[in-house]
Amino acid sequence: MAREYQAIIAYVVYSQVLKGAEYMNIAGELEKHAAEELSHALVLSNQIDYLGGMPVVQPKPVRTSEKAKEMLQFDLNNETETIRNYRDRIRQCEALGEFAMAEHIREILMDEQDHQIALATALGIDTPKNS
Ligand SMILES: [Fe+2]
Ligand SMILES: [Fe+2]
Repeated sequence: MAREYQAIIAYVVYSQVLKGAEYMNIAGELEKHAAEELSHALVLSNQIDYLGGMPVVQPKPVRTSEKAKEMLQFDLNNETETIRNYRDRIRQCEALGEFAMAEHIREILMDEQDHQIALATALGIDTPKNS
């Protein structure tokens, strides 16, 4: 949850402050990511409630930078970490027999992988390998 809030905030801000003609395409893309991260937070909140938990209300801290490249790199690092975490959560869901929850997380994971690819492409680098 905290990482999804972090992602919402980062994409809301970065999509608007990113400067430079070469980054205009990705800025529009980041705006779409912001909306997708919000939908992830809603799915997670629903699933945490289903498990009898209380969703956290604090985001992980969001780093800012004057440099477009650095902002995109922060996003990319966060997505890579998020993907690693969701892969673990899917394994845990399946071990517990929570197959529907695993499906919800798989759908989120597909978006996160798209986000990761979009950011790596904008940075002109290879998509990081996840463990
Ligand atoms: Fe997300
Ligand atoms: Fe994402």
